[in-house]
Amino acid sequence: MPSTPEPKSPLILVSLTLNGHAAEFSVDPTERLLDTLRYRLGLPGSKEGCGEGECGACTVLMDGLPVNSCLVPTFQARGSVIRTIEGVPPSELGTLLACGATQCGACTPGVVMTANWVRSCPEARKSHTLRELMAGNLCRCTGYDGIIDGLQAWIDGLGTNPPNDAGGDR
Ligand code: FES
Ligand code: FES
Repeated sequence: MPSTPEPKSPLILVSLTLNGHAAEFSVDPTERLLDTLRYRLGLPGSKEGCGEGECGACTVLMDGLPVNSCLVPTFQARGSVIRTIEGVPPSELGTLLACGATQCGACTPGVVMTANWVRSCPEARKSHTLRELMAGNLCRCTGYDGIIDGLQAWIDGLGTNPPNDAGGDR
């Protein structure tokens, strides 16, 4: 006797703001935000490293806060404001590149998104070092000194000045 196919979950309508533009689509309740961004909405900048919330390569901003998009069911982003690496002006990346903060680049999109939050949050910078605030973003190339130097200069608004002139707690 033929088996009955499993009933499919009903799709959920999601409306959100993505990099300043309204977006609306329907998703399965199990779809991850990372997959929605990469494969449904054509934004491959957010990377998948571990897929389990450990590495931060998939970091995006959700209502201004960094989240691991591999752990967020897309339907939970309904009504939110999402910003991805594609929404960051290339001019903002100059300091990072000048300080040698990228090697293979796999961690860079997530690093930049977390750094955007760090830069927008002076209270957090008062109570934690930059290295502590960036602890959720792992770099398998272990380029942490370059990353922290580049971010410190970027946050301080020092353009492409040498990282050793950036000052501040690391
Ligand atoms: Fe999401 Fe590693 S891929 S935290
Ligand atoms: Fe390669 Fe960070 S630059 S993982």
